[in-house]
Amino acid sequence: KNMEQLVIHGGAGVLEGKAGEAQKMHESLCLIWEETFDALRKGSAEEAVRHGIRMLEDEPVYNAGTGSKLQADGQVRMSAALMDGTKNRFSGVINVQNIRNPIEAAASLSGEKHSVLSADQATEFCRKKGFPEYNPVTEFRLQEFEKKCVGIHGTVGAVALDKEGRIFAGTSTGGIGCEIPGRVSDSPTVAGTYASTKAGVSCTGIGEQITQQAAAAKVVTRVEDGMSLHDAVARTMRESDYFNYLYGLISLDSEGHVEVGKTTALGDVFYAFHDGEKIRTFCS
Ligand code: GLY
Repeated sequence: KNMEQLVIHGGAGVLEGKAGEAQKMHESLCLIWEETFDALRKGSAEEAVRHGIRMLEDEPVYNAGTGSKLQADGQVRMSAALMDGTKNRFSGVINVQNIRNPIEAAASLSGEKHSVLSADQATEFCRKKGFPEYNPVTEFRLQEFEKKCVGIHGTVGAVALDKEGRIFAGTSTGGIGCEIPGRVSDSPTVAGTYASTKAGVSCTGIGEQITQQAAAAKVVTRVEDGMSLHDAVARTMRESDYFNYLYGLISLDSEGHVEVGKTTALGDVFYAFHDGEKIRTFCS
């Protein structure tokens, strides 16, 4: 029986009926899903999550790594986290600068005693580990910043289950755009990224709201306590709807079930996974 499962996301938002943009996003997510699933089959859940998120970070259309949004002072500060559900190991970087792949910074912290670092010290850690200087700013984001355009579109994430039954979850983000410099999003916290031996979750949407709901950790805890993944996600979304929150999540459990959740007020989560017959995305 093929137990491996993988679900990825490229953020959330509204494509404002732009069929062309939806099609491009669909194609990009399918391509990344396929290549990442290959990495999962040949390797492990950890390799797959890192591979998938690196690809999403490198694709400038998403708000993570290259193409990250700018904070209010015109600087890009990126955040990412990785969680090993088997080892109960969470690691991450908060507001790291001038590196190409924040998910790799999070991964290289997973073996450290102090596994979450922020700001200049996170960047310094990356330099010591040999991460080359890299400018993630794109022309498009500069223009968007000048128009004071704030959106929730583009955080990326992946959750994978490998044939050994290991679950890994990862999330990477450039934030929300034009935020107060130093703002911390949900992504590098257990509210945005969480996994156990039973389930894994990666969130996207308004970071403050995800944090206030402890969304990822809450869904995983509910599954740990015996709820089905479907019910755990549905209940968490219902609770967040009470506050009219705007966010979504991708998740999977140890049996390979996938659930994509979103609050009622949110447009779409831009996800991709395989349902056994074909790759399913937000528009197929
Ligand atoms: N969920 C990404 C952020 O709020 O920055």
